[in-house]
Amino acid sequence: MMKIPENVDLKNMSSLVTHFPDMLGWFMPSEEILNICKMYHEEGIEGLCFVGMGGSSIVGQYISGLLDKDSHFPICVVRDYQLPSYITKGWVVIGVSYSGNTVETLSCLEQAEERGIRIITVTSGGKMQQDYHKYPMLLIHGGLQPRAALPLLLGAILPLSETLVGMNRTPINQIVEELTASAKTWGDWIQQPINVAKKLFQKIPIFIGAEYMRPVAYRAKCQMNENAKTMAFSSEIPESAHNEVEGFHDKAIENIVPVFLRHDNEIAQVSLKQDVMIGLYQDLGLNPISLRVHGDSRILNMLLMTHYLDTVSVEIASMRGVDAMSIERIAELKKRLSKSR
Ligand code: F6R
Repeated sequence: MMKIPENVDLKNMSSLVTHFPDMLGWFMPSEEILNICKMYHEEGIEGLCFVGMGGSSIVGQYISGLLDKDSHFPICVVRDYQLPSYITKGWVVIGVSYSGNTVETLSCLEQAEERGIRIITVTSGGKMQQDYHKYPMLLIHGGLQPRAALPLLLGAILPLSETLVGMNRTPINQIVEELTASAKTWGDWIQQPINVAKKLFQKIPIFIGAEYMRPVAYRAKCQMNENAKTMAFSSEIPESAHNEVEGFHDKAIENIVPVFLRHDNEIAQVSLKQDVMIGLYQDLGLNPISLRVHGDSRILNMLLMTHYLDTVSVEIASMRGVDAMSIERIAELKKRLSKSR
């Protein structure tokens, strides 16, 4: 595990977001754990299930978006107390909890253990580290906010998942370089994040993604909630063309800003649907924003957009004068729940 570089301020969300690209390379899984994954692949896998909540659940959604095109088995994410009954012995369950203490995640792991499922855990400590040390575990750097740790989690878990699926490994270092270079040219190929922040200030964004941009839209919504402390939503194409579009009906929509997350390799039907929806929304008096990335791979497009929108979320936090780091309400909820248990 690489030491966290000294210039990263762990107490500052803006610093963490600036270090998004290099954080991808902070943790490399050991050969030992990769060999276990290879063995699971050779034994046969019926499905891969990620269990986790909030910031720790997003990595599973990204991996599903990245690998589902090539995987011969389903990849799903459970954000709940109960593992679905179809997840049985032939599956692999990856439990992700940054703190290691999230009750829903621990409850699913308990059920996985009872069912004799192969388990892998990813955490920085807590109960998960204590109770699951007999299973393969990625023990990652502590001290970050879970949501800020997305690149760290992804850099650690993607090689495992690719090995389980039986795919070639993504060259993480190359992605780090491309993300770092691209952020330096924001303003050339995409508007500066501050300009998007200004358009979203005191508005309610709906981030809209198709295919593998769906989890990115969901991540953007969560970053607005947690960093900028503002209401935000996410939705997906083509589904939203069959319902959400009808909701843009009266005065109540004035504060809503649809934000389309686009890339150059969209399939033709999806591309056309987005063009038509943007036109319709403009005619309805909305001011939709279209953001487009130009990467040549799924992972690059997802991460270019995520890094960019994470930055927008901290810009909005600063415009609103709120602390992007604190999560008082989530902490209060967890406190009240633990008292009533
Ligand atoms: C905090 C955050 C939260 C947590 C969630 C689960 O930054 O993003 O959504 O991720 O409450 O906690 P962990 O990740 O510790 O399992």
